[in-house]
Amino acid sequence: MTLIAHVSDTHLDDGPRSAERVTRVVDYLAGLHTRVDAVLLTGDLADHGTADEYERLRGIFGRLDVPLLHLPGNHDRREEFVAAGLGPRNRAELVGDALFALVDSTIPGKDEGFIEDSVLAWLDATLDGDTPAFVCFHQPPVTVGQRFADGVRQFGEERLEAVIRRHPNVVAVLCGHFHTPTVTTFAGVPLVIAPGVTSTLIFPWEDPDGDVDLDAPPALAFHNYVGGRLTTTFKSI
Ligand SMILES: [Fe+2]
Ligand SMILES: [Fe+2]
Repeated sequence: MTLIAHVSDTHLDDGPRSAERVTRVVDYLAGLHTRVDAVLLTGDLADHGTADEYERLRGIFGRLDVPLLHLPGNHDRREEFVAAGLGPRNRAELVGDALFALVDSTIPGKDEGFIEDSVLAWLDATLDGDTPAFVCFHQPPVTVGQRFADGVRQFGEERLEAVIRRHPNVVAVLCGHFHTPTVTTFAGVPLVIAPGVTSTLIFPWEDPDGDVDLDAPPALAFHNYVGGRLTTTFKSI
């Protein structure tokens, strides 16, 4: 059994609101009956990507004695992200009996995502073998029916799809960026978008002019991989 807490879009800045929300999530994780095997953080960790924000983030998450699997989002800054010890931007980690491929899908200075050819080649080689694998990045390569989100999704996704379809050991794709607990499929496997810690996306069936709900509580996902089956649950804190 591999149990992962999936936390995304903390957008930590120097104000009390973000710190309170991130601390609330970490307090909740610290108090769980069963310790998670790792915490996956799918980008937009810091709101402005400053060294101070990353130091504050490390301070809050530091008291969780579990591996942290970070990858950058469009609000993170590559140099500061790596300098803060959160990199490298593309890496693979074995947690229990599952492989987590942590992929940088960001384009510096842009909100939408794109995975560079060299990174896709690395991913292709990383996924070789029969180890159950999760492919993780920030920008979802799908639309979800919300125009603000869909406009800044990951593009060039047919190249990623071809890579994933070459590797039947891929269990699921795990993303952030859309600040909404969402499940769909991509390349024939489940694709799960984590809820946002900082805010929650408003869908057109709630409010056609809506953007994000700042009052919704922070939330996270749990991925429980056991006996070859992934079960994902969501929790508001
Ligand atoms: Fe975000
Ligand atoms: Fe984002």
